Amino acid sequence: MKEYSTRTLYNGVEIPGIGLGTYRMDDAAAARTVAEALAAGYRMIDTASMYGNEQGVGQGVSSSGIPREDVFLVSKVWNTDQGYQRTIGACEQSLKRLNTDYLDLYLIHWPKEQSFETWKAMEKLYRMGKLRAVGVSNFKIHHLQDLADRSDMLPMINQVELHPFYPQKRLRRFCEKLDVLVCSWAPLARGRITEIPQLNEIARSHGKTVSQIVLRWHCQLSAVPIPKTVHAERLRENLDIFDFSLSGEEMKIIASLKRDRIGPDPDLITF
Ligand SMILES: NC(=O)c1ccc[n+]([C@@H]2O[C@H](COP(=O)([O-])OP(=O)(O)OC[C@H]3O[C@@H](n4cnc5c(N)ncnc54)[C@H](OP(=O)(O)O)[C@@H]3O)[C@@H](O)[C@H]2O)c1
Repeated sequence: MKEYSTRTLYNGVEIPGIGLGTYRMDDAAAARTVAEALAAGYRMIDTASMYGNEQGVGQGVSSSGIPREDVFLVSKVWNTDQGYQRTIGACEQSLKRLNTDYLDLYLIHWPKEQSFETWKAMEKLYRMGKLRAVGVSNFKIHHLQDLADRSDMLPMINQVELHPFYPQKRLRRFCEKLDVLVCSWAPLARGRITEIPQLNEIARSHGKTVSQIVLRWHCQLSAVPIPKTVHAERLRENLDIFDFSLSGEEMKIIASLKRDRIGPDPDLITF
């Protein structure tokens, strides 16, 4: 079943329906895991200057033998690099470390006071052809509304914390209205989902693992998950989610586990 294998952004650019997260991989782990992931069939890799592994990600892409144009590379501008000039420079540095002359997607990592100036730089880089798509991350409804009120161009993606403990229903609806695609970070709630009885029951009934059930849930919500793993067998497991469907009832059960976010509230960050 291929129906979730790609999504189309509002500018017509296609994005794979699932990607590999690389947070907390060092350069060596990123180089090895990215090459393994591309060999297993992944075509999107998510990194950020803050992860300190862009060089490793670039090496993984090169050594995989997969043509650069077949890989969707995502990076992010870090908080201390926000503002117009700094963002232009930060993007150049990321391109150098990743050993590429363009990014498929560049995101503002967190909303900050200077995010409007940062966004202007992203628009400029997009128009110069250095970025095929531009977006934001950790933007709440009021951050998106503010950007929409002040700019000509809307983000194509909002990458936010999203998992069964934190399903972000209001934000997802708002993004859908604006035609902003939602990408889920910590899609597996960093592994905390595995012990939940309701998820285990659904997994048993489909002959799948809990991780596969949850990743499938993201895809059926029309969100793009970017699970991180450094293990070859889990890379394959996390990709093997396109041969079954969850029922409406199962989708509801998964979204009703009601715990809380893992990461910080974007309005309260101190970094
Ligand atoms: N924009 C942002 O602010 C932001 C913030 C955080 C993360 N992100 C991005 O989102 C990506 C994903 O988020 P995340 O890494 O925080 O959390 P995650 O993907 O929800 O969880 C990763 C954890 O789950 C484990 N895992 C992966 N597949 C598994 C499986 N099939 N069965 C059991 N355990 C499994 C991994 O362990 P092993 O590696 O040992 O397999 C790792 O400990 C990041 O890597 C990063 O690229 C973005």
